[in-house]
Amino acid sequence: MDQPAPERIRLGSSELMVSPLGVGTNTWGFILKANPALKDTFETALSLGINFFDTAEVYQFHGSELTLGQFLPAARGSHSNSPVVETKIFPLPWRLSAKSLLPALRASLARLKMDDVDIYMIHFPLPPVSIEAWMDAFAGAVEQGLVRAVGVSNYNAEQMKRAYSALEKRGIRLAVNQVEYNLLKREPEQNGLLALCQSLGVTLIAYHPLASGLLTGKYTRESPPPSGRRSLEINRAAIVRVQPLVATLKQIGEAHAGKTPGQVAINWLMCKGALPIPGAKNLKQLQSNAGALGWRLAPSEVTSLDAAADAVCKR
Ligand SMILES: NC(=O)c1ccc[n+]([C@@H]2O[C@H](COP(=O)([O-])OP(=O)(O)OC[C@H]3O[C@@H](n4cnc5c(N)ncnc54)[C@H](OP(=O)(O)O)[C@@H]3O)[C@@H](O)[C@H]2O)c1
Repeated sequence: MDQPAPERIRLGSSELMVSPLGVGTNTWGFILKANPALKDTFETALSLGINFFDTAEVYQFHGSELTLGQFLPAARGSHSNSPVVETKIFPLPWRLSAKSLLPALRASLARLKMDDVDIYMIHFPLPPVSIEAWMDAFAGAVEQGLVRAVGVSNYNAEQMKRAYSALEKRGIRLAVNQVEYNLLKREPEQNGLLALCQSLGVTLIAYHPLASGLLTGKYTRESPPPSGRRSLEINRAAIVRVQPLVATLKQIGEAHAGKTPGQVAINWLMCKGALPIPGAKNLKQLQSNAGALGWRLAPSEVTSLDAAADAVCKR
């Protein structure tokens, strides 16, 4: 019997159709060195119906794009579930004009081994180049056939409106805004960004959906992360504070045939209308994150998670 077709959502109003869950690749490759072991992770994502990959020129100092570039040529076109790729230009301080976009884009395309990229986005709304000047340069890249859709990242509602209008003047619709969003960081819901994305038809892509692993429940007071993995976000106090939320994630997961806390946390984002891109370092993490697909939390469960997250954030 044929496999059921994987679920697909449209990125903004572009022609790009992707799985409701992507793969974040900011740990792929290491300082200009690609890691061939990730081929299995990449191919397994496609075989599980996940066709959306997020990267950026700055991830691993080009290593992430180089790693994807090892796998993409064979997968694009030939695979029934052809990968859709987004990459980003970083407004580095020495990029003093939007003319720097085309050389950066061409370098990314060379690393990715692609003739054009599905989504090209600006990584941060940093000076000195104005939002309007960047968007004009993005529009030029679309017109040259090098980019299929345009995105922004870390843009607040006002900045996104400016980007949207600047592109609209060139007849292009902004496709996506990628921002930090998870159960412990709910600003996009609270500051109107998510609602604005929905009203403008821009897909909100949620990065950091697992809060670096905190929401998987793998860290407890008794089993903290190894010292090299500790950070401002993952510290003893945060691990203790998050436990009641992890308990709610576990309890809800049990009612869904034993879904894990991480899978429930990712599914919560999909229920909010966001497209999560959990970072998977290896095959095991990818397979686990893919378990967030193919089912949905009930509205009452989303409400319970909202309340549990609020309680943790107020502590
Ligand atoms: N636009 C931006 O400014 C921006 C910023 C940050 C990230 N991003 C993008 O968003 C993606 C995701 O964000 P993120 O990687 O920072 O945060 P994340 O998805 O919340 O956390 C990913 C980390 O959690 C752990 N993990 C992942 N899956 C797991 C699983 N199933 N079970 C247990 N642990 C698991 C892994 O770290 P350990 O194995 O070390 O625990 C992994 O590196 C990135 O890859 C990148 O593509 C974008």
